[in-house]
Amino acid sequence: MIDVKGKVAIVTGAGQGIGRDIALSLAESGVDIAVVDVNPEGAAKTVSLVEKTGAEGLALQCDIADSANVAECVSRVLDWREQVHFLINNAGITRDNLLLRMKDDQWESVIEVNLTGTYNFTKAVTKHMLKKRFGRVVNIASVIGLIGNAGQCNYAASKAGVIGFTKSVARELAPRGITANAIAPGFIETAMTAKLSDNLRESMLNQIPLGRFGLGRDVAGIVLFLISGLGSYITGQVINCDGGMVMS
Ligand SMILES: NC(=O)c1ccc[n+]([C@@H]2O[C@H](COP(=O)([O-])OP(=O)(O)OC[C@H]3O[C@@H](n4cnc5c(N)ncnc54)[C@H](O)[C@@H]3O)[C@@H](O)[C@H]2O)c1
Repeated sequence: MIDVKGKVAIVTGAGQGIGRDIALSLAESGVDIAVVDVNPEGAAKTVSLVEKTGAEGLALQCDIADSANVAECVSRVLDWREQVHFLINNAGITRDNLLLRMKDDQWESVIEVNLTGTYNFTKAVTKHMLKKRFGRVVNIASVIGLIGNAGQCNYAASKAGVIGFTKSVARELAPRGITANAIAPGFIETAMTAKLSDNLRESMLNQIPLGRFGLGRDVAGIVLFLISGLGSYITGQVINCDGGMVMS
């Protein structure tokens, strides 16, 4: 049973793409959503779509890599609602380059947003979840964090870091009623993947046994499962959402 109605979620990077689809899927199940994004227009647009479902939304501009910004953002959510039940760490970026051509700022920005941003939000929100002895944290990693990818050593390292971080947090917080899991999407149709060449898209498609690229809604369905009662005995896991691209 999807028993999440009336609860509150923070979804980072929900101004577009997978994050927006997660926000809307949860809203359709009656969850009120704090829509966090560095892009305020995207966040406002997602809130207007959330409100069309009948759930409530709050748009928050925040750079997840900035811990002071994150602390302020979480305190605004707690002014809005007394409890945060679900945290979905989804915001992420790519700055692709081969190792020998990689600029230090490409390395640092990807680690700071994807890994430190996940750390910043998880630390700030689970502090409050601990007091309530309930929480669900879902981190959006990537299959690239499991298998690596030429041209993405920064991104792969950040997402592998997110996976190790998730498992450690899951062990620390399990005794307090908080679960933490990661989802590893494969190739999902969003702005992040739209910029890839036709040749690369074609070769990726050939590696997907289900024969199609994923949708944000495919990822959102797993989030809903993990935060609901259906997923309550699952923690510290990585669930691939990739059409069978990576099988372990
Ligand atoms: N699209 C894919 O195929 C794919 C595959 C595997 C994993 N992922 C992961 O899924 C997540 C979402 O990806 P997407 O494809 O929807 O990307 P996207 O680029 O379409 O959306 C990312 C969102 O995050 C926001 N964002 C970026 N930096 C931010 C920051 N510092 N603070 C706050 N918000 C910030 C952006 O403004 C944007 O709204 C990312 O973590 C990505 O790594 C995507």
